[in-house]
Amino acid sequence: MVSMRFLSFLSATTLTLAVATATVTTSDGTTSSHKIYPRQQKEAHNATEKPWRPLPWGKVNFIHTTDTHGWLDGHANVPSWGGDWGDLVSFVKHMQDKAFQKKVDLLLVDSGDFHDGGGLSDSTSPKGAVSDSIFENIDYDLVTVGNHGVRTGEEALNIHRNLSRIYGERFLTSNMDVRVDGKLEAIGNRYRAFQTRNGLRIVAFGVTTEDSLRDKTNTEWYSAEQMFGEKWFEEAMKVEADLYVIVGHAPTYSPCLDLKQDNPLVCLRDRIRNSTTKPIQIFGGHAHHRNFTCYDETSSGIESGKYGDTVGWVALADVPSPTWTGTKDALPNPKPENNCTATATYRLDRRYLDWNRLTFAYHTVGLEADNVSVPATFDTPLGRKVTDDISKARHQLNLTYYLGCAKEDYCYNCKGVGEDGNIYEVLKDALSDVVVNKERATVPRVVWANEGTIRDNIYQGPFYLGDAYAIVPFPNTFEYIPNMPCACFEKMVKKLDLNATVSCPSGQDCPSVDDAPATHLELRSLREDKNASPGYTTHDGLGDDGDDTLHSKINETEAYTKLFWSNAGFPNPPQYPPSFDVVFTSYVGTKLLKALKGTPYTDKDVKPYLPSEYTSREVLPDYAARHWKKDINECPIRQP
Ligand SMILES: *[C@@H]1O[C@H](CO)[C@@H](O)[C@H](O)[C@H]1NC(C)=O
Ligand SMILES: *[C@@H]1O[C@H](CO)[C@@H](O)[C@H](O)[C@H]1NC(C)=O
Ligand SMILES: *[C@@H]1O[C@H](CO)[C@@H](O)[C@H](O)[C@H]1NC(C)=O
Ligand SMILES: *[C@@H]1O[C@H](CO)[C@@H](O)[C@H](O)[C@H]1NC(C)=O
Ligand SMILES: *[C@@H]1O[C@H](CO)[C@@H](O)[C@H](O)[C@H]1NC(C)=O
Ligand SMILES: *[C@@H]1O[C@H](CO)[C@@H](O)[C@H](O)[C@H]1NC(C)=O
Ligand SMILES: *[C@@H]1O[C@H](CO)[C@@H](O)[C@H](O)[C@H]1NC(C)=O
Ligand SMILES: *[C@@H]1O[C@H](CO)[C@@H](O)[C@H](O)[C@H]1NC(C)=O
Ligand SMILES: *[C@@H]1O[C@H](CO)[C@@H](O)[C@H](O)[C@H]1NC(C)=O
Repeated sequence: MVSMRFLSFLSATTLTLAVATATVTTSDGTTSSHKIYPRQQKEAHNATEKPWRPLPWGKVNFIHTTDTHGWLDGHANVPSWGGDWGDLVSFVKHMQDKAFQKKVDLLLVDSGDFHDGGGLSDSTSPKGAVSDSIFENIDYDLVTVGNHGVRTGEEALNIHRNLSRIYGERFLTSNMDVRVDGKLEAIGNRYRAFQTRNGLRIVAFGVTTEDSLRDKTNTEWYSAEQMFGEKWFEEAMKVEADLYVIVGHAPTYSPCLDLKQDNPLVCLRDRIRNSTTKPIQIFGGHAHHRNFTCYDETSSGIESGKYGDTVGWVALADVPSPTWTGTKDALPNPKPENNCTATATYRLDRRYLDWNRLTFAYHTVGLEADNVSVPATFDTPLGRKVTDDISKARHQLNLTYYLGCAKEDYCYNCKGVGEDGNIYEVLKDALSDVVVNKERATVPRVVWANEGTIRDNIYQGPFYLGDAYAIVPFPNTFEYIPNMPCACFEKMVKKLDLNATVSCPSGQDCPSVDDAPATHLELRSLREDKNASPGYTTHDGLGDDGDDTLHSKINETEAYTKLFWSNAGFPNPPQYPPSFDVVFTSYVGTKLLKALKGTPYTDKDVKPYLPSEYTSREVLPDYAARHWKKDINECPIRQP
């Protein structure tokens, strides 16, 4: 057991919080910070759609989270994902009690990426100062670090010194180091060999995908080949195990063809399989999808969504173990009946749970027939406290500041380019409206950003500062090249292969130039309920029955082009002016400069456009505050 690190931020002076503590004086004269909300965040809506059947339980079961990216406060405008971390805490406690009664094992696993997303994680310095202490209330058995955790040495060091210490030997980083006082050290533990409550012998590893944006000076990544050459790895492979568990911040489906650079998760599976036929269970992530991949009869891997929208469930029925002290009886129904190969005797199953209280209560304390109210017995004291801590933190960090009403859904893949309801069209409007250098306000300009600027949809309903931060989490500064002739701009756009036309005044010329177009993952769907709200309709390696609650299919259109710009200060779109300011986020700067090779423009021509405090994170809040209707009482969410 870890000793829980309770929130101390109310008195912390070392943290750079955006606002001071908001304390109120209660009627009895004592000072308290807020009222206790015994449920999800009070802005969140109750789910009305429940699971369609109970969970299968095997002898060894897993609860899996991944890519939370600081979204521990739930999705207020999406009833299916309205639960917060406190609700998960209560759920886990009930599930642990169930496992105990059934004399089976339940292990908790997270595959990393704790930050770079929600305002809760990103509005403090260091990132996660508040959200990590909330996260720690789940007593994970296995955790690993994501690529968003090693992009700066400072963040990696924070994780090494804080989160990793809390979880101790259960925080696994088999292939990731951080520089500490000049020397590289593993961020966590290399591997973990342990026995479960019921005596099952497990050897576990934790690996992370490589990231081109990793801080190469202060962190180090090791390929599968390098890992396999280590003494600790040799030692780990000598330990007697009934089951190998790999927690990986990497997708489960990309193959391992080259040990020097391919997905370390799948390479590690292949390596273990080369030396033993024992079962291997993988918990992946990074892809922000629900998925399940079968490698062979006894090895498979799950990916469990993103941003606190999904809780993954894996149940294994037949892991042979001479040391097993748990139930010897046949498993009661429902039990895992699926398998990875048609002739297999090794049975397993998986589920993807929608992250809401109704789902959590359905699987634990039960609901009365057709009644979608969560019984009071669901909330545990710790769960309530965590929910309350989140609520306090949101207020302190100003994340509950109301910006305006989103009158419809704005999404990144359900509406076409140029259509109303496409979130990039909103961002383009916002970029041209709020990214203005006062001294150059009269100079026509284009403002560039990229597809990855946006990390989630805007859902119809009240729009808070926390939502804005979560949708555009990356603080990129704005830079520019002044007065670029249209012909050079046109040349750059052509080079970028964006399928866009720029029509310049005739007679202009610019002094010659390669790049890759966007690709896009496809989500197939089969099992769905056309009358239900839009949501995940997952097709995975075991079929189409993995989703715990049925949804209607989300209409997916093509992804937005990787790079785009919006025009300001000149009529849009016909004729471009002879010259204009080319403004861009610092993130896309290198790509634009590459495309400008062969023109007179180099990095020396790039200047700051706005003060460095004003970043891409500020664009949506400013825009919404300026343009969206204020009346919160006339701001319904979309009904399922
Ligand atoms: C959600 O359900 C709770 C009871 O579980 C109730 O107190 C609350 O008012 C409901 N919220 C909304 C927005 O309907
Ligand atoms: C560890 O966490 C504390 C509290 O959030 C923070 O003040 C400290 O800077 C962190 N340590 C590192 C090395 O970042
Ligand atoms: C596994 O064994 C096969 C056959 O010997 C070999 O080609 C492959 O490289 C091995 N893979 C790993 C990850 O060790
Ligand atoms: C799911 O995994 C399969 C392989 O098992 C892969 O082909 C597919 O692209 C994955 N789907 C998504 C949405 O990631
Ligand atoms: C494995 O699963 C397939 C598909 O669900 C099923 O047809 C088959 O009977 C199963 N095999 C065993 C041995 O249970
Ligand atoms: C529905 O369930 C809630 C909570 O368990 C209970 O308080 C309520 O009385 C039930 N409503 C009906 C109509 O049975
Ligand atoms: C909260 O954020 C809004 C919008 O950025 C700002 O106007 C307001 O002053 C902030 N409040 C506090 C207390 O910092
Ligand atoms: C290029 O854009 C045109 C018009 O916007 C569109 O019809 C066409 O399908 C696009 N081509 C590609 C390859 O995206
Ligand atoms: C999805 O597309 C279909 C057919 O184009 C349309 O009828 C339906 O309203 C769309 N659903 C949503 C949620 O946009």
